[in-house]
Amino acid sequence: MTDLWWKSAVVYQIYPRSFADADGDGMGDLRGIIDHLDYLAGLGVDVLWLSPVYRSPQDDNGYDISDYQDIDPLFGTLEIFDELLRGVHQRGMKLIMDLVVNHTSDEHPWFVESRSSTDNPKRDWYWWRPARPGLEPGTPGAEPTNWGSAFGGPAWEYDEKTGEYYLHLFSRKQPDLNWENPAVREAVYEMMRWWLDRGVDGFRMDVINMISKAVQSPGGALPDGRVIAGSAYGDGSASYINGPRNHEFLHEMHERVFAGRPELLAVGEMPGVTVEEAVLFTDQARQEVDMVFQFDHVWVDRGGDPWRLIPLQLTTLKGIFNRWQTGLAETGWNSLYWNNHDQPRAVSRYGDDSPPYRAASAKMLGTVLHLHRGTPYIYQGEELGMTNCPFPTIADFRDIEAIGQYTQAVDQEGRSPEEVLAVLRARGRDNARTPMQWDASPHAGFTAGTPWLAANPNHTEINAAVEQEDPDSVYHYYRRLIELRHTEPAVVDGDFTMLLPNDERLYAFTRRLGGTELLVIGNFSGDEVRAEIEDAAAWSSAELVLTNLAQAPVDLTLGPWQAVVYRRTA
Ligand code: NOJ
Repeated sequence: MTDLWWKSAVVYQIYPRSFADADGDGMGDLRGIIDHLDYLAGLGVDVLWLSPVYRSPQDDNGYDISDYQDIDPLFGTLEIFDELLRGVHQRGMKLIMDLVVNHTSDEHPWFVESRSSTDNPKRDWYWWRPARPGLEPGTPGAEPTNWGSAFGGPAWEYDEKTGEYYLHLFSRKQPDLNWENPAVREAVYEMMRWWLDRGVDGFRMDVINMISKAVQSPGGALPDGRVIAGSAYGDGSASYINGPRNHEFLHEMHERVFAGRPELLAVGEMPGVTVEEAVLFTDQARQEVDMVFQFDHVWVDRGGDPWRLIPLQLTTLKGIFNRWQTGLAETGWNSLYWNNHDQPRAVSRYGDDSPPYRAASAKMLGTVLHLHRGTPYIYQGEELGMTNCPFPTIADFRDIEAIGQYTQAVDQEGRSPEEVLAVLRARGRDNARTPMQWDASPHAGFTAGTPWLAANPNHTEINAAVEQEDPDSVYHYYRRLIELRHTEPAVVDGDFTMLLPNDERLYAFTRRLGGTELLVIGNFSGDEVRAEIEDAAAWSSAELVLTNLAQAPVDLTLGPWQAVVYRRTA
């Protein structure tokens, strides 16, 4: 059995502003989390990951931090945070914080100083550049590079006072820190140690494979990015995804922060990371991070044109997971997730959220994910089978990304508002951010006030109170899944073999450890389908450890959205 505790752990992500509001201001808070710790412990999860609760102007819901060492008054105080941490530890769980250090808020004192003059000592803590040669600073097209920002518009903001631009890969209120500067790195490490000394158990590191920019020397120029047909801006990602010093910075962070504290968990969020890079990032011998969030499987239904919905192709999805499972089999470790605060709800995206199949397909998705090799993450409400929300108009979205991209697409690129809205309804981040559905009462029991984002109308049927009472619910099924990881070593350490790679409806694989072998099959369709695998007859008489339908399959013929886990021992 493995000696790294997080290999057999299940992590639960809390998006605090949408989890539970104890003080009635319409915004979730730390006290609300404290009030629900027994719920989380009852689910059986091992680790809680908190999305940012630091002081912030909330331009990107807290991913724009103005003080790393304080709690935003919206969420509580440091004293309440300490109480939360004690409550988590008393229940035998751990807590990891979100670490957002690719950028700060523009209201962080470091940036306020940096922008005050060109010779301020903190000037070089951020990416300041002059206008494109020959163009008038501040005029359209004069930005230092053609890069677009993730939230629409250019990645550069002109600052009149000093006549230069600063880089922001996200919103203009999220200026990128300059990790080339050792003083920046030291300040970040010091802040991280401060949280660890307070007792937190690790970090989920926001876009941590963007901190190293491919800056050209001499002169410090940044190059233009690839031009994208139909888009107002270029794609600069070749200059900042997995940049040249990324490994060096993470290893340095490990030495300066994690050394001598072996029990911590370090998870790197890494959009665009490749399997080959991830092996290096997560090789324990290299001392960088423990696991990464890769994005290939959540980009599977995204084409070259971001405003066209591409239907999910199961064979492509399986190909992606197979590549990651086999690529990290010898060295490194996977994170496993369908959902987080940036993704639409899994049951609406990969399953079928219509009433007859919602619960079955939510359980099937959980089974397939949790039985892979890696550490599974559950995003709040996933354990209830929460669905996407039917947002009527653009005015019902709150997410800066949705609003910014809508504006760029409709106003600058001439797209049709309906086409853009259809994509936002299917893929928008606010789908994940509607209030946690605690019960059938107004606003889903999330708040006694007016919620910052309206609750999904289906909370009257889909909610924790109903599901906790129903032994057949998605919630209780997730409890069994988590327990299986805790009790069956083959789930944690077994090797992985993909079966039926060309089947568009069935997702099948085996896990094997010593004499124990598990067969996992998920039916990604509303049809009855027989699994044509070698050894089918023997498998169908093996022990059925878990299934999501009342009826066990006969002769490996699965019902609509059925999932099965069989076990046999040699
Ligand atoms: C990734 C986070 O998950 C997302 O919510 C945020 O908007 C960006 N990084 C910027 O911090």
